[in-house]
Amino acid sequence: MTDRISIDLLNWYDQNARKLPWRIPPEDGKAGVIADPYHVWLSEIMLQQTQVVTVQAYFLKFIDKWPNVAALANAETEDVMKAWAGLGYYSRARNLKRCAEIVAFEMDGQFPNDIGELKALPGIGDYTSAAISAIAFGEETAVVDGNVERVFARLFRISKPLPAAKIPIHKHVKTNFSSVRPGDFAQACMDLGATICTPKKPNCLICPLVNLCDARVEGDMERYPVRPPKRQKPSRKGAAFVIQRKDGAIFLQKRPDSGLLGGMSVVPTSDWNSNQDGKTGSDAAPIKLNWTNKGEIRHTFTHFHLVLEVWFGEAETTTEEGWWSGRHELAGEALPGLMKKVLEQAIPDCTKPK
Ligand code: ADE
Repeated sequence: MTDRISIDLLNWYDQNARKLPWRIPPEDGKAGVIADPYHVWLSEIMLQQTQVVTVQAYFLKFIDKWPNVAALANAETEDVMKAWAGLGYYSRARNLKRCAEIVAFEMDGQFPNDIGELKALPGIGDYTSAAISAIAFGEETAVVDGNVERVFARLFRISKPLPAAKIPIHKHVKTNFSSVRPGDFAQACMDLGATICTPKKPNCLICPLVNLCDARVEGDMERYPVRPPKRQKPSRKGAAFVIQRKDGAIFLQKRPDSGLLGGMSVVPTSDWNSNQDGKTGSDAAPIKLNWTNKGEIRHTFTHFHLVLEVWFGEAETTTEEGWWSGRHELAGEALPGLMKKVLEQAIPDCTKPK
């Protein structure tokens, strides 16, 4: 029984693994091809809060610009932030750069295979250290992400709500994962969770584990994993000020390195943050101009919703700290998704490459 899950799952994976740019296909893995730890690390950091469909293009752009960890370590931080723009959770990009520097300059360019050593590196926590050690180094490690959690919570009908359910889930993964192909087992679980054992309407008819699944017997798959009641996200508001020069350039500023949108490029805004509203009127603008109201945009962060009133004004100079980004440069700036929305609201298509 203990091996059934891994045998059936790996047989299914051998036929159905998704083709992903950081992944060694199962047939190549069995023929002895090994993953590049740099690729595994980079993809796992990108995948921490972002979906596979979004990550693929960013991953390819990064390995094209910076083909190895030394290249990334020697890059300008500003260029890394620009390449990361749009992926969100920008502390990941700063940690990525710091981690690359440590691996390149202090570890001879070699990622450690030991979970403890991996976890000591910036941006690498419990999940990511396990994923890297299993996928890149074949270490016998149980890897548990949200997909794996869902698959195992259903297989064993775990009635405890998350996060308490993590303990029994981890125990079951440890008992059932493949110690021969731990990396493929982890990725097979992820693929199963992403394509068949989905949060809503799982496609049990084609699931390789259908006969081993306790929740399937009861027909209550969608109940698992049991989640605690959702907390309402608070809503915050503020104002954003798009200032344009006659030649089309837009005035930008850099956010402080730490905190929300840290190190990213933004237009001036009122003083909003995750637990404080900012002013929404043009009186909060950094300079006096003939401001035009362009309506509002909405954006959701992890812990709150934000509504920003967008104001547009024309000026040739400001006394604020910042720079003018020309119409051909704007698309390449480190603009977070929130700022793309603000700028597009004020000047349609201005963030699209020219
Ligand atoms: N999500 C996180 N890591 C993944 C991986 N290696 N393959 C597919 N989905 C993932």
